[in-house]
Amino acid sequence: MKAFIFDLDGVITDSAEYHYLAWKALGEDLGIPFDREFNETLKGVSRTESLERILRLGGRENDFSVEEKGRLATKKNEHYVSLISNITSADILPGIEVFLSDLKEAGYKVGMASASKNAQMVTHQLGLLDAFDHIVDAATVTDSKPHPEVFLKAAAALQVEPKDCVGIEDAVAGIEAIHAAGMFAVGIGDPEVLTEAELVFTDTSILTLDHVLARI
Ligand code: BG6
Ligand code: MG
Repeated sequence: MKAFIFDLDGVITDSAEYHYLAWKALGEDLGIPFDREFNETLKGVSRTESLERILRLGGRENDFSVEEKGRLATKKNEHYVSLISNITSADILPGIEVFLSDLKEAGYKVGMASASKNAQMVTHQLGLLDAFDHIVDAATVTDSKPHPEVFLKAAAALQVEPKDCVGIEDAVAGIEAIHAAGMFAVGIGDPEVLTEAELVFTDTSILTLDHVLARI
């Protein structure tokens, strides 16, 4: 392996929880309440596709024009941005800083493949911009996860073959994207949800370079 490519939300920081809270509030406004189990199907999925999935859940997919959907997505994003506005390096998930510095020390390339348009801003707030050799976010990608584009772009920018990359994800759609890119998939979360990953850690505190290398 030559490179490690990380998802952001739910892997580097717990922003996945804030995405959930903001979508849940919008869903309730629209009369479409949903639980954490449904939220698993939103993880890793783009802003517009997440909205479509929520509207479909409530049978309201034909109730809004493109402009209205744009306003709903903006409303969710404004709420999400307000929820994350105070995050700092204290919000980096346990073990991640040590893991990132171990990777650098061992000479691996380190990339980010995020479905979020807020990825640069969140990474900046966490004080981690320098920890990544390259960040690919939703702004430069046409097809969102589970399509492999974001991971393939990250590998290309790092000048590493996909087969020599490890992808790290908390979302089912993200694990699919890693596999579609031809990479080794490490999941962060519930092994019963992330069933397709080669290796799953229940949380980042036990994610170490030694543990991953021992399993490749
Ligand atoms: C992904 C999250 O990283 O980014 C999703 O897992 C989110 O929950 C998606 O919807 C898009 O994020 P944003 O910040 O562009 O709305
Ligand atoms: Mg994620």
